[in-house]
Amino acid sequence: MSLIDSYGRRINYLRLSVTDRCNLRCRYCMPAKGVQMLPHHEILSFEDLLRVSEQAVAAGISKIRVTGGEPLVRRGILPFLARLGRLPGLQELVLTTNGILLGEMARGLKDAGVRRLNISLDSLKPEIFARITRGGKLSDALSGLEAAEKAGFPPHKINVVLMRGVNDHEIMDFVELTRERPYNVRFIEYMPTGHSANWRAFSIPGTEVLERIAERYLIEKLERTEHSGPASNFRVRGAPGSLGIISAMTGHFCGSCNRLRVTASGMAKGCLFSGEGVDLRPLLAAGDDTLLRQEIRNIVQAKPVGHEMRGRPAFPPASFHMSGIGG
Ligand code: GTP
Ligand code: 5AD
Ligand code: SF4
Repeated sequence: MSLIDSYGRRINYLRLSVTDRCNLRCRYCMPAKGVQMLPHHEILSFEDLLRVSEQAVAAGISKIRVTGGEPLVRRGILPFLARLGRLPGLQELVLTTNGILLGEMARGLKDAGVRRLNISLDSLKPEIFARITRGGKLSDALSGLEAAEKAGFPPHKINVVLMRGVNDHEIMDFVELTRERPYNVRFIEYMPTGHSANWRAFSIPGTEVLERIAERYLIEKLERTEHSGPASNFRVRGAPGSLGIISAMTGHFCGSCNRLRVTASGMAKGCLFSGEGVDLRPLLAAGDDTLLRQEIRNIVQAKPVGHEMRGRPAFPPASFHMSGIGG
């Protein structure tokens, strides 16, 4: 079974957000205050998340990335992941985390069948890490990273959202990290959220990042592989790790997008920026899984060609926070 959208793209990757809560409050993700966390009854139960996943897999999804908020703060997440990982037809279960809880949970994640981890780490300096995450401890994230390596995960993808004047002076430190460790460090263009009216001042085009690196290092472009995701990857000659550029704003990976999203409250979205999405809860409540599968197909059919931010000056709406969608 495969899911092909109306532009001929094959959709085989579901980003499943299991909570909008987080143990950090990154500036690019949430406003300082005033985010309304969803009340517990509005979050899909694990049973419903499994039903949605099962029907998505039956329709043609082969990879699920569990996201949040921070997925590891949801109580009962490990047994849930173990059940999700056993879904017949699912080839890959992966997870994006801020790493803070990996110290205690990395082994459990490995045992549950999670294959790979993408870890957000926006600074290698304790005070800047604390400023960006509004109070997070860098040492917790770093020990999480190590615990996950010890638990046997393959080299992590490290996500760095670059913000001009905040952490872009650390680009070369991250490049150095790829010369020491086999990580894939990915620099991400800061995307607008509802609370960041002046996002343009912070967002750094991927081309600029690459130029700045190329002024200092000899870098070579790497071939695309099935694990490249939205990143264009490079390597400093001789380094064990690699560098990725995710041009979330300026790039045009929409043309090869293979994703579908479901938020923690059961809203299915064809595109990160496609408004509210379609509420799956009435179908879940009706108990008809065939209809649920059909709805997933319909949402894929209606998937937009790409994000049309330029024509929408008032976008995104004030309520748009990445924590509610999972990035
Ligand atoms: P893999 O390809 O499986 O490694 O996952 P990924 O890189 O897509 O996932 P991750 O959760 O690590 O996200 C990395 C960055 O890419 C985050 O900033 C996401 O918000 C961004 N991103 C992921 N999917 C999309 C997308 O469809 N559109 C845009 N514009 N950005 C995306
Ligand atoms: N712009 C770019 N990336 C973002 N993420 C969260 N908010 C933003 C944003 N405004 C990233 C996180 C995490 C991933 C799921 O999404 O850093 O790595
Ligand atoms: Fe939490 Fe990730 Fe958002 Fe940071 S970016 S506040 S770690 S969900």
